[in-house]
Amino acid sequence: MLFALQVSLYASLRCFYNLYLHPACRFPGPRLAAISNIWYAYHWLTGKYPMAIAGVLERYGDVVRIGPNELAFVTPQAASDIYASHTKYIEHFPKASFVDLGGGDKGLTWEKDPAKHRAVAKKVAPAFSVKAIKSKEPTMHKYIDLFVQKMKEVGGQKEGIELREWTDWVAMDISADLAYGHEMRQVQQAKSAPFLKAIWGANFLIAIHQILHKFPLLSPLQFAFMPPGAVVNLLRARRLNRAELERRIAQRDATEHPDHVDQLLPASSPAPTPTQKKHLDVVIGQLVVAGYEPISSQFLCTLMFSLQEPALHQQLVDEIRGAFARYDDITPDALAGLPLLHAALLETLRLTVIGGGGLPRVSPGATVDGHYIARGVGVQYAHWAFTRSPRYFHEPRCFRPQRWLPADHAAWDPAFKDDATQHFFPFSQGPRACPGMELAWRETRLFIGKVLWTFDVEALPGQEKSVVFENGFRMYGMWSKPQFWVRLQPRRG
Ligand code: HEM
Repeated sequence: MLFALQVSLYASLRCFYNLYLHPACRFPGPRLAAISNIWYAYHWLTGKYPMAIAGVLERYGDVVRIGPNELAFVTPQAASDIYASHTKYIEHFPKASFVDLGGGDKGLTWEKDPAKHRAVAKKVAPAFSVKAIKSKEPTMHKYIDLFVQKMKEVGGQKEGIELREWTDWVAMDISADLAYGHEMRQVQQAKSAPFLKAIWGANFLIAIHQILHKFPLLSPLQFAFMPPGAVVNLLRARRLNRAELERRIAQRDATEHPDHVDQLLPASSPAPTPTQKKHLDVVIGQLVVAGYEPISSQFLCTLMFSLQEPALHQQLVDEIRGAFARYDDITPDALAGLPLLHAALLETLRLTVIGGGGLPRVSPGATVDGHYIARGVGVQYAHWAFTRSPRYFHEPRCFRPQRWLPADHAAWDPAFKDDATQHFFPFSQGPRACPGMELAWRETRLFIGKVLWTFDVEALPGQEKSVVFENGFRMYGMWSKPQFWVRLQPRRG
């Protein structure tokens, strides 16, 4: 009885504090979100978090309180203030505890301490220099060529192929081989490797973990809330990663082709200590996943979206085929000069859901878009709301690569001239911007270029897909994409 009284007194005082005294209390938003993280937990668990944020921004204005200690912003100035501000590449708004699966070492992605992050980022950067990426290009060709070969065998059959699965395989095969020379052979064997199954199997677990971060009293119980299969999957993914890294370290001076370990642990450096190995294990695991998931989405969604706009799709095909007489001439550098391909990839980035989780940061006590935000208050940017807003993009819910074309291009359309294209940062900004951006551009250009040069691709009937992903969409740690059935016939024209 006494305990119940104490709990309700504590809860009432906390509500009062959150509503009237908290440093974020002057910002509008749903009342439930102001007093409890239940609002966040509910929308995160339904998988519709980015849409819920967009909804409240529309209702309450450009800054919304989406949790007792969390604000969401939508203006480009806010994005720049939060992510791009830094002193000598030490970010002003440190990363929040969001996706951190614990285990001591935080690697690169989970590192919250700005100075430590800077030190790790500096060590990782050489793996993504243009020179290093170009030396790794043969690996991209190898898997994309294998994909093209496989599609010649199975892509033209009447029942078609399911593209989400195949693009997951090719993107993961490339990412794992680029990271630590690990050949997963998913495209070759047309089946998912245990690592891929394990990380998708752990996706829900990651969501629970993210939610319980906000409920510190429940946090120690998190494994009790999780399906045992998901825990097994997470442990399996970690074990597989560690075993592959051990294999790669053992072959340090006898590798077949360049990979990221060449820069992270050069063959000439001394054998790593257990602590260095643990760090490398976390960093490589992060590079494999970060280098796979957005790439597979780009492969899948660029084809999926453009097939729904037949005239545009034909222009894209003509542009690619017109630029190359032979398949072997297709390279990322040669593809870089194709404006419609570039525009289609950018438009896909606009419509997919990378950054849908808000990329949360913690205010150091600074101004965001003219609002002073007290130290310790969480801030995030509503990437999904920004890209779907008619205030920033004409026909925001349609696939319109035209908006990214230069004004002298034949397909340029002045209807898009006021679009906020210069404020769109799909790879984020500032010290924590994506180090894999250049790699991503090369990989995605090459895949779309080679596939559309070789095949006439058609979507199988009865699967019109919404490009806004309001239905059939889920976002936990990673966002789940729809299946998409296509037929790929060797080109006739
Ligand atoms: C279309 C493809 C890609 C997109 C749209 C993308 C987008 C992003 C974004 C928005 C961030 C910032 C996340 C944050 O602030 O929390 C990020 C970080 C990161 N990305 Fe990418 N990325 C892509 C491809 C890649 C590739 C190919 C790699 C290579 C391994 C990569 C590696 C990373 C890493 C390691 C980080 C963490 C950086 C840090 O915390 O300092 N990404 N990416």
